[in-house]
Amino acid sequence: MINTPAPEGTLTGRYAELGTGLIPVEPYISADYFAREKAHIFKKTWLQVGRVEEIPEAGDYFVKTLAACDTEVIVVRNKQGRISAMHNVCSHRLNQIAYEKTGHTRKFFCKFHGWAYDLDGNLTGVPDEKCFFGLSHADYALTRVACDVWQGFIFVNMDPKPALSLDEFMKPMYGDVEGYPFDKMTVGFAWETVVDCNWKLALDAFQEAYHVAYVHGNSIADAIDKSEGGSMPPLDALCGEFHRRLSLAGNQKSVYGNPKAVTSGGAAASEALSDASAKRPIAAAALRAGIGSARHAFPLDALPKGVNWTKSPNWLFDINVVFPDFYLSLRPNYCQAYNFRPIAHNKTLLEARVYYPEMTTPGGRFFLEYMKVALRDVLLEDLSTLERTQRAAETGVKKFMILQDNELLVRHSYHVIERLLAEAEAEAKVQPVAAAA
Ligand code: FES
Ligand SMILES: [Fe+2]
Repeated sequence: MINTPAPEGTLTGRYAELGTGLIPVEPYISADYFAREKAHIFKKTWLQVGRVEEIPEAGDYFVKTLAACDTEVIVVRNKQGRISAMHNVCSHRLNQIAYEKTGHTRKFFCKFHGWAYDLDGNLTGVPDEKCFFGLSHADYALTRVACDVWQGFIFVNMDPKPALSLDEFMKPMYGDVEGYPFDKMTVGFAWETVVDCNWKLALDAFQEAYHVAYVHGNSIADAIDKSEGGSMPPLDALCGEFHRRLSLAGNQKSVYGNPKAVTSGGAAASEALSDASAKRPIAAAALRAGIGSARHAFPLDALPKGVNWTKSPNWLFDINVVFPDFYLSLRPNYCQAYNFRPIAHNKTLLEARVYYPEMTTPGGRFFLEYMKVALRDVLLEDLSTLERTQRAAETGVKKFMILQDNELLVRHSYHVIERLLAEAEAEAKVQPVAAAA
């Protein structure tokens, strides 16, 4: 196995503890490995499940299936406005309490025997209660799940006593991203699909830009900042205890590579149009139609210091991978929130949402439609390799993968998971859980 030290000045060299070794294929194809990830990572870690705007009123709720935690949670806003979560399991004979994926209610009534629970999960009504023997309401509340909010994103944790608070989990890596204008955006468009591949294999395709010039060569190739050749080298990468980040530059003379053009207008728009008018006439027309129609301004100098942290004038976007499976990419005026939720060792639910500023004019909405189609095509290109890669991995022909410097985040991802599994199994002093668990 190679393990040549990374030269000084490389991203990999900065994180010497990650080494330069090959990455085993086993974690991507093994049901046993996935069982260990479920037990020691997904059931112990904060998982992003939604945003506060999805449940604005008291009594609004949504239900999220988390296959990697073997459960489904109800996330609800109570009368005081607080958001909490509980397992979707009745305390009587275990029926699911909520059947719909989203809803609004005053109380939750189980459809089997009619037990009633308030918005905090307290048991408040039991038909024929006198026929039970010593039933205490306090003992039969819905089972609560740890739940907290970071920057409007709702997280849950299956561990009844999480090792870290959500703030302790997020702040070391993302404290300097707090204040990003999430609240000025709304869901512009969203997609959901099941991909027959391991969740890490899917996520990996989104945490490096080495593939951009090739996979996206016919769609957004002109967005690539070619100042360092034809590929898309990162401006910088940061790896933490759990999370990781990558900052990327774009070609400012393109519509996709210069996202600020539509909300900043002026010089940014002129620069984007200078080449795009001739080379990408439809993109240019969409941009012209959309300039100045966002409801809110997005001044670059108002961004928190952790966004475009290298302060590059050619900045395109930052990829933030919130451990384990949440990809949050931030641009000057819109963001993408993708969840790679494991279903099985070779099956992943991708939930993709793109948050955009509301557009107040027909031209602005035309621009949004243009971006929706452009981003859809890019996403389809990203998905195009995944199932083939999984099938090829499962042949067992290759036992290891080799990574280059700009794939550092893939390397970091592997090491964090290995470390957490080793720590948890050493602490529990138990055999790894079986695949059937
Ligand atoms: S299972 Fe819910 S009331 Fe019986
Ligand atoms: Fe991509």
